[in-house]
Amino acid sequence: MTEIEYKTYWEKVYHKTAFNQLGWFEEKAVPSLNLIQESGVAQHAKILNVGAGATTLMDDLLKLGYTNIIANDLSKAALDVLKNRLATTDLEKVIFMEDDLTNPKTLTQINEVDIWHDRAVLHFFIDEKDQNTYFKLLKKILKPGGFVIIAVFNLKGASKCSGLEVFRYNDEMLQDRLGADFKLLNSFNYAYMMPSGSERSYVYTLFQNIRNV
Ligand SMILES: C[S@@+](CC[C@H](N)C(=O)[O-])C[C@H]1O[C@@H](n2cnc3c(N)ncnc32)[C@H](O)[C@@H]1O
Repeated sequence: MTEIEYKTYWEKVYHKTAFNQLGWFEEKAVPSLNLIQESGVAQHAKILNVGAGATTLMDDLLKLGYTNIIANDLSKAALDVLKNRLATTDLEKVIFMEDDLTNPKTLTQINEVDIWHDRAVLHFFIDEKDQNTYFKLLKKILKPGGFVIIAVFNLKGASKCSGLEVFRYNDEMLQDRLGADFKLLNSFNYAYMMPSGSERSYVYTLFQNIRNV
């Protein structure tokens, strides 16, 4: 798939399917919420949710009082679903950033990120070049002491997500990609139940950047 076809693919996904019927919909993003709270960051911390889609994690972070959230996605349609669902009074607490993690432009302008959160995005990057771009961006914009939450299909997980091939991980592989500046604070496997009733096996990880802390 070319870059343009890939973007069109994700635009179509959010145009044709209601957000609560998508194969990754969570009524409540409990493991992500738990890890964000475990990090102990303040409510004004800068939380970057990469490939946020239309996740309910955004609604719940706002309910919990977080005020400085960036929702990134490649798909404008996904971000529009989110924008239209959130309360008008909450919109000033969220920056909606349409950008490509494998060819980032506006994302490179962000700095001092307290939490990088990714659920079900990194595993779509099959090419090493795209993976390298992803981790380079993460390391550039995360602040010293900042946290990384990555949740992707684990080694026992499905080989496809949303019809696309995935690259699966365990916590050691993620540690390897992040390097010695990052300390693994928590990791667990998690069985996610899709709206269709099928199960998907994820690994959730929480790392902290311990360089210069
Ligand atoms: C499986 S969905 C997960 C959405 C959300 N994180 C969640 O847990 O509900 C994958 C998301 O990644 C987005 N995405 C895919 N490739 C991307 C890229 N290169 N840059 C930014 N977002 C991307 C898609 O548009 C989609 O919203």
